[in-house]
Amino acid sequence: MTLPFLGPLLHEGKAKRVYATDHPDRVAVEFKDDATAFNAQKRASLAGKGEMNCRISALVFERLAARGVPTHYLGVEGPNWMVVRAVRIVPVEVVVRNIAAGSLCRQLPIEVGTRLDPPLLDLYYKDDALGDPLLTEARLERLGLLTSPQRQRLGELAFAINAELCALFAEADLELVDFKVELGFTGVGELVLADEISPDTCRLWDRRVSDASDRILDKDRFRQDLGGVVEAYGEVLKRVQGVCPEPRVYR
Ligand code: TMP
Ligand code: ASP
Repeated sequence: MTLPFLGPLLHEGKAKRVYATDHPDRVAVEFKDDATAFNAQKRASLAGKGEMNCRISALVFERLAARGVPTHYLGVEGPNWMVVRAVRIVPVEVVVRNIAAGSLCRQLPIEVGTRLDPPLLDLYYKDDALGDPLLTEARLERLGLLTSPQRQRLGELAFAINAELCALFAEADLELVDFKVELGFTGVGELVLADEISPDTCRLWDRRVSDASDRILDKDRFRQDLGGVVEAYGEVLKRVQGVCPEPRVYR
């Protein structure tokens, strides 16, 4: 599909393409079916993933915006496109963990499934060539990416997003284990939630299932070769649709 107001391709990432539009402050984001893991060492195309992640992200962004979290989101346009405010992405992957899983359990003696209360905030430097290294506060400061008030705002936003996401997914009988978000600065210097929120970027466990593998409804199914990836994403979409209204169409 080609949007009538689409301009040149500005950026292509692993899961999305970003295009200019006829409006200087707005860009169009195309969600791709491509799936990657382990810094793109593992790749596949999963039919329907782009549409599902676009739809889930739209619903989640609208819920977060309604609860006072500033986002880049403006509206959906077609099955796998959304229009968003143009932002300067902060090259920091912001991860919040409610339950121990993934790299935390590989790097520290903490068992998978351990509840983390208060939740853990981990910041990574977003650079594929460097393997997205874990940041210390001193290293973050040394990089000079954020002022001290901006670093504080990042933390506030991360925990506010976590609280709202936990509540939303709980309504859908899903446990939010952890997630990654990216933040960006708008033209007027406001720090807002950007990128996407989907089973590519969240760990979600089905509260209706106790089996440790069967309950996984996110990209860990792809990372761990568990099968049923598209079906799991479809289940997340269905549940989120059950607790959120239809996303608005961009006009
Ligand atoms: P991790 O346990 O591998 O550090 O991942 C933490 C969360 O961040 C998990 O929900 C998956 C998400 N994530 C991404 O969205 N992109 C990435 O590149 C990585 C490594 C993790
Ligand atoms: N998105 C990352 C990659 O492709 C890693 C991951 O999500 O596991 O490489």
